[in-house]
Amino acid sequence: MSAILRVTDLAVAYGQVEAVKGIDLELNEGEITALVGANGAGKSTALLAISGLVKAARGSVMFDGVDLCSLRPHQIVRRGVVQVAEGRAILTTLTVAENLALGSYARTDRTMLAQDLEWVHALFPVLKERANGLAGNLSGGEQQMLAIGRALMARPKVLLLDEPSMGLAPLMVQEIFRILKQINATGLTILLVEQNVRQALKIAQHGYVLENGKIVLADTGARLLDDPKVIGAYLGG
Ligand SMILES: Nc1ncnc2c1ncn2[C@@H]1O[C@H](COP(=O)(O)OP(=O)(O)O)[C@@H](O)[C@H]1O
Ligand SMILES: [Mg+2]
Repeated sequence: MSAILRVTDLAVAYGQVEAVKGIDLELNEGEITALVGANGAGKSTALLAISGLVKAARGSVMFDGVDLCSLRPHQIVRRGVVQVAEGRAILTTLTVAENLALGSYARTDRTMLAQDLEWVHALFPVLKERANGLAGNLSGGEQQMLAIGRALMARPKVLLLDEPSMGLAPLMVQEIFRILKQINATGLTILLVEQNVRQALKIAQHGYVLENGKIVLADTGARLLDDPKVIGAYLGG
């Protein structure tokens, strides 16, 4: 297994408060890697630093021979590291189709657009059925699907997700995780941040547990699911 993205000694501070305290993690190409932990552990901050949306205080994020910490957010997207926004930041007054088109906005190769749209429609049939409807009229789960579909339209090499299951009904949570597995099966590398530790570790080949800004455990998803410390702290004993 080769790492497609490697984070080394990444630290991020908000003023005096260090939210991420020098973490190391790597994403193997073609795998789902889960980054799990409690509320406030620093998961979102770590993702935002990888996307260039917050500045790292130190450390590096090596991808494709460059340190993403030296790039602007749009340059990081253009290189293929694309984050699905937390809280499903879709544009509610635009149509579903217009939201999907925004995802491909930064692309330079536009030859595969129609094919990629077909793929997104196959993954999420509702986005085809509701193409001309306002995104704001979609349910919460459908808006999450649109946010993921929009990120896929950017043709990512690495997809970053921040709590895609948050606030969704159990059936919809199952559906989202099922589709993430399906997306991963096409070879796409995924970094999945979740508070839903059980579901995330179930679909992830590897996982990291973040506590108070530090990685405290790293292993395969299956072994973490069986780890007494994980069970005690995150899986309700
Ligand atoms: N914009 C911000 N300004 C100041 N502190 C923040 C900001 N965002 C997050 N924090 C703090 O950083 C820590 C990590 O937050 P966050 O990365 O959102 O954790 P998680 O995503 O794991 O819930 C928390 O203590 C949080 O209060
Ligand atoms: Mg968060």
